[in-house]
Amino acid sequence: MENRKIFSMITGLGAFVPDKILTNHDLAEMVDTSDEWIRTRTGIRERRIAESGKGTSFYAAKAAEIALKQANLPAEELDIIIFATVTPDMYFPSAACFLQEKIGAVNAAAYDISAACTGFIYGLNLADGMISSGKYKNILVVGAEILSRIINWNDRGTCVLFGDGAGCAVMQPSDGKRGIVGTFVKSDGRLNHLLNMPGGGSIYPPSEAKENPEKYFLKMEGREVFRHAVTLMGDAATRVLQGNGFNGDDVNLFIPHQANIRIIEAIAKRLHMPDDRVYVNLDRFGNTSSASIPIALHEAYHLGKFKENDLVLLVAFGGGFTWGSALVRF
Ligand code: COA
Repeated sequence: MENRKIFSMITGLGAFVPDKILTNHDLAEMVDTSDEWIRTRTGIRERRIAESGKGTSFYAAKAAEIALKQANLPAEELDIIIFATVTPDMYFPSAACFLQEKIGAVNAAAYDISAACTGFIYGLNLADGMISSGKYKNILVVGAEILSRIINWNDRGTCVLFGDGAGCAVMQPSDGKRGIVGTFVKSDGRLNHLLNMPGGGSIYPPSEAKENPEKYFLKMEGREVFRHAVTLMGDAATRVLQGNGFNGDDVNLFIPHQANIRIIEAIAKRLHMPDDRVYVNLDRFGNTSSASIPIALHEAYHLGKFKENDLVLLVAFGGGFTWGSALVRF
């Protein structure tokens, strides 16, 4: 039983990925790794790589056009654009402002949020709250990344994991029956050192890149991140389910952040979720950070993996650390 009024719903979904595919075999020619190692340790077979010279908002705009079309909403009617990314086009202005220009959302307020791989869930949570306030009606929530630009292509421990892409959702007031049943978001800044990119900000500004080049790439303590991801994503799932009067059996489709198949399997086991109710596409896209959930959601929708009235559970985890979940009645 839902114990909370439903205020907002997803009325359009969009996703777009670059054409260029980088396979595990390609990577094996770049660093000391193998297709077998990557597949068995991560579940990834290939990932997409953005075209040079293109910014994150380019791919986000393609995804946004698809979502707005499904929602039957002209871009001029958007009130807000929330763009979750850790790889914006520029340090400033925001990627959201570049996106606003590209799609012609001339009446919107546009800004970025930074919550790494949990960014899209943070965006949904924010949009749901804004719509529930009655102040805004039409919100575009975007998760898009070009992680290939911040990856150290000589570090086999990270370069095999990530990919580029964009996904988004149009959020509008609910019909009262379908929509965001509940969200849960949390962070723990004490663990910021386990997954980050130190360079480019105010501590290590771009002007110092030559002195400490290694700081200007994504860095990660893989094993520690793995351990926390399993626990915290499991907690986020449980919190949003129990907090809204549901359990795992009520969920028709579970869409976890696509980081590592072993993380996904461990969480699914904890939630007693059978394979056929867990959506996985990381074999084809790798970890696209904030884009991972909206790309998977868009794909699952078009493959008919859930239908009207189904309950879909979204759960993510990322640098910060940040983690969160959303329960959506479609
Ligand atoms: N190819 C071959 N060997 C590799 C490798 C690669 N791409 N990457 C690391 N290795 C090696 C290591 O150097 C290490 O070698 P050693 O034993 O000689 O020192 C060995 O494999 C084991 O490394 P380890 O880091 O313990 O492997 P792992 O089983 O933990 O797998 C990850 C590494 C990165 C796949 C795993 O820790 C992981 O997925 N972590 C979470 C990452 C993540 O999801 N981040 C984003 C969260 S949003």
